[in-house]
Amino acid sequence: MSDSNIDDGRGRGVVLVGYRGTGKSTVGRVLAGRTGRAFVEVDECIVARAGKTIRAIFEEDGEPAFRDIEEAVVRDLTANHPGAVLGTGGGTILRESNRRMLRAFGLVAWLRADVAELARRLEADAITRETRPSLTNKGAVEEIAEVLAYRTPFYEEVADLIVEAQGAGPDEVAGRILERWPCS
Ligand code: S3P
Repeated sequence: MSDSNIDDGRGRGVVLVGYRGTGKSTVGRVLAGRTGRAFVEVDECIVARAGKTIRAIFEEDGEPAFRDIEEAVVRDLTANHPGAVLGTGGGTILRESNRRMLRAFGLVAWLRADVAELARRLEADAITRETRPSLTNKGAVEEIAEVLAYRTPFYEEVADLIVEAQGAGPDEVAGRILERWPCS
């Protein structure tokens, strides 16, 4: 994990990273509501820009095309919404350029949960089956275990703080981030 020193030329925003199902969108809305900051989301902007769902982008254009749009969106959102709460997709941290832009934007909070909890949450979420493309074509638990293990070093690298999303509601998670967000 990186040092949390945002007086080193980094911005005043806050960024939420973490696997699918860790509650980034819900926590982002709570944070924005409690601070009066704007909440902007990478996935939402990707869908608006592409004019189709994320599942359709994956199916019709492939994951590399999705990642290219994602990177362009990270560039635009971080440039145009300084000081905002920025919600990322679970894989936004994969590209080094994205990690650099996210850290330059502000404090990066990693919402973490274990494989069983993520599987339970995603299973319970009807929207997941409709909108979230499979990343590996494996079963849910196997996919989460494999992808999370691969991504964990990237989450660790980009994060200023780790917040356990497990067993905590969105208000509690937001509260822990606010303790560390100096501009709040
Ligand atoms: C992805 C996570 C999704 C979305 C896309 C890819 C991933 O975002 O960006 O389906 O690679 O983990 P959420 O984490 O908001 O579901």
